[in-house]
Amino acid sequence: MSDPGYVKVVLVTGGSSGIGEAICKRLSAEGHRVFGTGRKVGAQPNGYRLVAMDITDEASVQRGVDEVLAEAGRIDVVVNNAGLGIQGPAEDITPELALDVLNTNLVGAHRVCRAVLPGMRERKRGLVVHITSLAANYGLPFRGFYSASKAALERYAEAQRMELAPFGVHVVTVQPGEYRTRIATGRLRPPTVSAAYAQAYERVMGVLAGSLHYSRDPDEVAVLVSRLMRQAAPYGVQYSAHGVQRLSVLLKKLLPARLFERMMMRHYR
Ligand SMILES: NC(=O)c1ccc[n+]([C@@H]2O[C@H](COP(=O)([O-])OP(=O)(O)OC[C@H]3O[C@@H](n4cnc5c(N)ncnc54)[C@H](OP(=O)(O)O)[C@@H]3O)[C@@H](O)[C@H]2O)c1
Repeated sequence: MSDPGYVKVVLVTGGSSGIGEAICKRLSAEGHRVFGTGRKVGAQPNGYRLVAMDITDEASVQRGVDEVLAEAGRIDVVVNNAGLGIQGPAEDITPELALDVLNTNLVGAHRVCRAVLPGMRERKRGLVVHITSLAANYGLPFRGFYSASKAALERYAEAQRMELAPFGVHVVTVQPGEYRTRIATGRLRPPTVSAAYAQAYERVMGVLAGSLHYSRDPDEVAVLVSRLMRQAAPYGVQYSAHGVQRLSVLLKKLLPARLFERMMMRHYR
């Protein structure tokens, strides 16, 4: 890292686990000044700092961002990575659970943006990376509210990109396929599952728990984020996915909806 101008101050929400942790590790190993977040912060990791932040709590977000600004003076890159999964037949998801997932996956990212963007606009430079999901492209059976939350974040980012362009702030979304993290165990679940859905739900979740899913190293997402940070004008939707998962995005665009949905259900049979 010979060019000191290249060293960035990076805030990664959800740096305590999975994809966020992989991003923190990679970027700090590359010489960047990295701050990750976790709701509870215990021992500090090597190479980067974890600050306490709950993205569902505006005061906590502001405190966390203020802590980073007090220490580093600026934030060049924010990676909105913290997020939750949710599973269950859509009909069984209570409105409270639905709001919980939207509050984290969409409004949580928004809270962080509101705290970080004034500084970026003032300095007329910055990069916002939203970690969404391939699930943003289609409704996943029995994970409808997850798809909805990530699709909403995609549209939010699209609007934000146009609003922030005059200020030199770039907005990118990264859509990961399935990676080996804690996401599946932490998914929100409905209090009860209706008998009418039980068999299909168990089958789909059984396939999802199988070896082909959630097997890849989350560092792949970190490599992509690192690459985006080196670009002069990173843009648009970026994919971190392979094989049939990556292909699914193209098929969704090309195939009639009925055929795509039939293929999706065949995959989960
Ligand atoms: N793994 C995949 O296959 C996959 C695929 C597509 C997209 N994604 C997305 O990638 C992101 C990271 O997920 P992951 O797979 O790495 O899952 P993970 O291992 O469960 O990590 C989730 C992270 O989010 C943080 N978090 C959750 N709720 C939070 C809150 N209210 N405030 C602050 N932090 C919060 C957690 O921190 P604490 O619990 O320590 O507070 C944790 O660091 C998510 O947005 C997820 O939707 C994952």
